[in-house]
Amino acid sequence: MSAAQAMLREGLGTLAPRLAIVLGSGLGTLVDAVEPVFRRSYADIPGFPVSAVSGHAGELVAGRLAGVPVVMLSGRVHYYERGDAKAMQAPIETLKALGITDLFLTNSAGSLREDLPPGSVMLITDHINYAGTSPLIGVDSDSRFVGLTTAYDAGLRAAMTAAAGRAGVPLGAGVYMWFSGPNFETPAEIRMARILGADAVGMSTVPEVILARHAGLRVAAASVITNFGAGMTGGELSHAETKDMAPIGGKRLAAILTELIRSGLPD
Ligand code: HPA
Repeated sequence: MSAAQAMLREGLGTLAPRLAIVLGSGLGTLVDAVEPVFRRSYADIPGFPVSAVSGHAGELVAGRLAGVPVVMLSGRVHYYERGDAKAMQAPIETLKALGITDLFLTNSAGSLREDLPPGSVMLITDHINYAGTSPLIGVDSDSRFVGLTTAYDAGLRAAMTAAAGRAGVPLGAGVYMWFSGPNFETPAEIRMARILGADAVGMSTVPEVILARHAGLRVAAASVITNFGAGMTGGELSHAETKDMAPIGGKRLAAILTELIRSGLPD
């Protein structure tokens, strides 16, 4: 058992969560809805990565949300921080070892669609790995040949859509395209992304989806739209804008996730 697993097993006690949620930039408010049993910053969990990006405080909070045991990973480490696509490997593998079966990933993203304006929420149905790397490079067994045909679980997506309906929150759906960042895209790249079939662009999540599928977790993911893609509206993009906008859609996403958790995950 890894040192992280041992620490979390002891910290969780009898709490036996099935679901873990990774909260992206500015989406940390969902943590406030959790009655915590155990919380630690990543810096204090052996092997967990520490992010230096503002707005991405790394903290694990385990407890109950609407009475249901959950683990929240508030903040992630991005590929662009060190060029390491495996940055979130230790947290994901630790969750799996603790008995987590379902992982819900969230992020903020730029929209490529006029009908998904800033403040809206998009369920990710599929992705395009435009960063072109994989966290599984260097894995030395046939387990590395992970299929991604059904990476975004159909049952979890249906449950999310139903939960959004019950919560009265509009929920879009579309394809997320991973750019390495940390620079934003050019207008030409955004036009390309639209032609290639993307609905939103962002700098995260895809490596975690691949790691989670490698670990055998069921995966769902959603984007909070913070801005239109570069060149779609004229102005320059900024991290400050994405941080300011994230909590708006973040509240909507939190309402959907809370309803999903309250009503129970599909088998
Ligand atoms: N591009 C990439 N990542 C993002 C964006 C964007 O426009 N908005 C929020 N994260």
